[in-house]
Amino acid sequence: MNRVLITSALPYINGVKHLGNLVGSMLPADIFARYSRARGRETLFICATDEHGTPAELAALEAGQDVATYCAEQHEIQKALGERYGLSWDYFGRSSSIQNREITQHFARQLWKNGHLEVRTTRQVYSNAEKRFLPDRYVIGTCPHCGYERARGDQCENCTRVLDPTDLINPRSAVSNSPDIEIRDSAHLFLKQSLFVEQLRTWIDSHDKEWPALALSIARKWLDEGLKDRGITRDLEWGVPVPDDIADGQLKGKVFYVWFDAPIEYIAATKEWADANGKGNIWKSWWHDANDVTYWEFMGKDNVPFHTVGFPVTIMGSGEPWKLVDRIKGFNWMNYDGGKFSTSGKRGVFMDTALELLPADAWRYYLIANAPESADSNFTWDHFAGVLNKDLADVLGNFVNRVTKFCIARFDGKVPGEGVYGEDENTLIAEMDRRVAQYAEFMEQAEFRKALGELRAIWVTGNEYMTRAAPWTHIKTDRDKAAVGVRMGLNLIHVFSHLCWPVMPSMARVMHLAIQPIADNAEVLPWPDYPMAKALDELEAGQPITAPDVLFAKIADEQIAEWKARFG
Ligand code: MF3
Ligand code: ZN
Repeated sequence: MNRVLITSALPYINGVKHLGNLVGSMLPADIFARYSRARGRETLFICATDEHGTPAELAALEAGQDVATYCAEQHEIQKALGERYGLSWDYFGRSSSIQNREITQHFARQLWKNGHLEVRTTRQVYSNAEKRFLPDRYVIGTCPHCGYERARGDQCENCTRVLDPTDLINPRSAVSNSPDIEIRDSAHLFLKQSLFVEQLRTWIDSHDKEWPALALSIARKWLDEGLKDRGITRDLEWGVPVPDDIADGQLKGKVFYVWFDAPIEYIAATKEWADANGKGNIWKSWWHDANDVTYWEFMGKDNVPFHTVGFPVTIMGSGEPWKLVDRIKGFNWMNYDGGKFSTSGKRGVFMDTALELLPADAWRYYLIANAPESADSNFTWDHFAGVLNKDLADVLGNFVNRVTKFCIARFDGKVPGEGVYGEDENTLIAEMDRRVAQYAEFMEQAEFRKALGELRAIWVTGNEYMTRAAPWTHIKTDRDKAAVGVRMGLNLIHVFSHLCWPVMPSMARVMHLAIQPIADNAEVLPWPDYPMAKALDELEAGQPITAPDVLFAKIADEQIAEWKARFG
């Protein structure tokens, strides 16, 4: 059987992430990992904080902490928050780990040994105001391609083109805004990416049918524009040090560029996982000569080039059989009320404050049902409340509520055994078979919006059946018929809970526990991967059930108004 390796783009360490970050990588990766586990596949879901680079240094400076302390603290904050969202990482590592230092240095040595690295004297921006070298992204100016005025020296976020700070028109320091910057010579290691163009193109073409159009077009645009050799070291103190045995110590005191070591942390975090769990060399079997592994990566679109070109070149250039990504899932942006979510601008809703408003599962549901898959999507409070009130309260919650309450009122809170399934039930079963298969197919392809559309349709199907079966009417004249409706309703709740689990793990457990106990050590609600005729006739007659508390309390107009004001 195939093993499934899943990574989510590593959240940067500089503070709590906003919901746009969550929906663009960590949440879909989690849903996919849960789905994969529910299908009984051996799954490893890895994430970590991305801790190196100047943003971390500057954030620490601003917090008045040394950078190591800052990162350690922020890591714990992000980890705890992720857990509150039910992100089921097998391991949440740190790119500043000793494992990543070693593996990053290993890759660099391989690249050096294979002749893919070269020392070049580069001209670096030095800020006289700050008395330090300014990394590319801390030089801002006008993009020479599209004219965007706040383009960063590494990449223009407007046209996504990769830039060099010296390309910028009217450059200045983004830290101090000082134009008092000068260019100094500094030796750096360059990875000769241009040698890999054909190999990359062949590899990318081989995934023509599997990668979403977004990922393919971004990757090809890069190749078509001609791959530049890439500087992989920086004049900073915080980072993975360049080892002295590379280039005869010419790079002494420098560190690798954060984008060089960050993706390697996918591998290193797997080693962190193994080290922390006494699994020895097992980590390597997921990455090295791992032909039975299907590797999925989840990320926002700005990350696609680094995963389709940058990291693959590191791997190809190592000359060792490390795993290349099989399936890339890239996301567009989710906007906030027509504009951008912004960490620096503190615009939008962040992972911590969101949980003050509603439970994690409500966010999980809304975000993934509106994931920016084929295009950007937009978060608005009215849409948010409308979707949740309708789907989770009116459709799903109401279904669970009316079936369980009625069972308690009229059937003593036990699964009724009277009567036999008839035509109505068989029609429902056939429709459920079709829809569950379709839902599964979308999940297999990580097509989340479509999957969630199908999940919603499954709930609606159940509701419509219940309306037809109307046990509340039949109870007066035909108790057996009413019993059939209730029994099916309870079975539906049970099946729904399993189907919901990848998306809304806590709500799924609540639903399940109302109908049937769950083993204490059960971490997964498995997929009902057998015919619905069986899945919907599983509950034993006489088995007690309970009515859960309101699954999802409707959002009131006043709340919407309050949230709009608070986050406006
Ligand atoms: N921290 C980066 C970002 O937030 C993502 C790093 S992904 C990895 O955009 F591949 F480098 F790990
Ligand atoms: Zn631009």
